[in-house]
Amino acid sequence: MTTRPGIEFQRLEKSDHDLVRHIEVAPEQIVYCGTIDMAFASQEDRIDLYAIRAAGAAVGFFKIDLKYPQTYGFAHYGDLGLRAFMIDYHHQGRGIGRATLAALPNALRHLYPGARALVLTVNIRNQIAVRSYLQAGFVDTGDIHDGGLAGPQHVMRLPLRPA
Ligand SMILES: CC(C)(COP(=O)(O)OP(=O)(O)OC[C@H]1O[C@@H](n2cnc3c(N)ncnc32)[C@H](O)[C@@H]1OP(=O)(O)O)[C@@H](O)C(=O)NCCC(=O)NCCS
Repeated sequence: MTTRPGIEFQRLEKSDHDLVRHIEVAPEQIVYCGTIDMAFASQEDRIDLYAIRAAGAAVGFFKIDLKYPQTYGFAHYGDLGLRAFMIDYHHQGRGIGRATLAALPNALRHLYPGARALVLTVNIRNQIAVRSYLQAGFVDTGDIHDGGLAGPQHVMRLPLRPA
C-alpha cells in the first residue's frame, strides 16, 4: 500500500522472510522491539506482518496484533496493537520513523475498517521512541505495563475513529 510520498507498507507472509531478513536494530535496541528472525519464528496467531519501504527499499518492519484486546487489559474491543516497530539501524535518524508514524493511521483505517484505535507499549527508557510516538499524536494513557522483558512501559493510544 502506498502512503505519503516515499513510504509504502507491504503486507508480508511468513514466506516473505527474505524480503526483510536484512533489517536490524542496534544490539541494545533489540530488547525494545525484538528481531526480524524472532517475528518470523513466532507461532502467534492473528498477527499481520508489514515491511516499511522507503524509496523502494525495505527499511523497517512492524506487526499489527489483532488479538491485543484479548491479551491486554488496557486494550479495548476494536483496538489494534502495534508491535515490533523498527527502522533498520542504518536508516535511523533520517525521518523515516516520523514519516511512517504520520502515514500509519490512514493506512490502517483503509486496511482495518472496523479498527477503533492503535495501541502500543513503549519502554520508559526508550526516549527516542516515546518522543516519536507523542509527536505522531499518540496519547500516553497514564497506564504502566509491567509485562515487558526490559522493565516498565508506557501505554499509548492513537484513535483511528471518533469514539
Ligand atoms: C524509534 C525509531 C522507530 C525511530 O525511527 P527513526 O527513523 O530513527 O526516527 P526519526 O529519524 O523519524 O526521528 C524521530 C525523532 O527521534 C530523534 N532521533 C532519532 N534517532 C535518534 C538518535 N539516535 N539519538 C537522538 N535522537 C534521535 C529524531 O531527532 C527525531 O526527533 P525530533 O522529531 O524531535 O527531531 C527507531 O529509532 C528504531 O527503530 N528504534 C529501535 C526499535 C524501537 O525502539 N522501536 C520502538 C518499540 S516500542
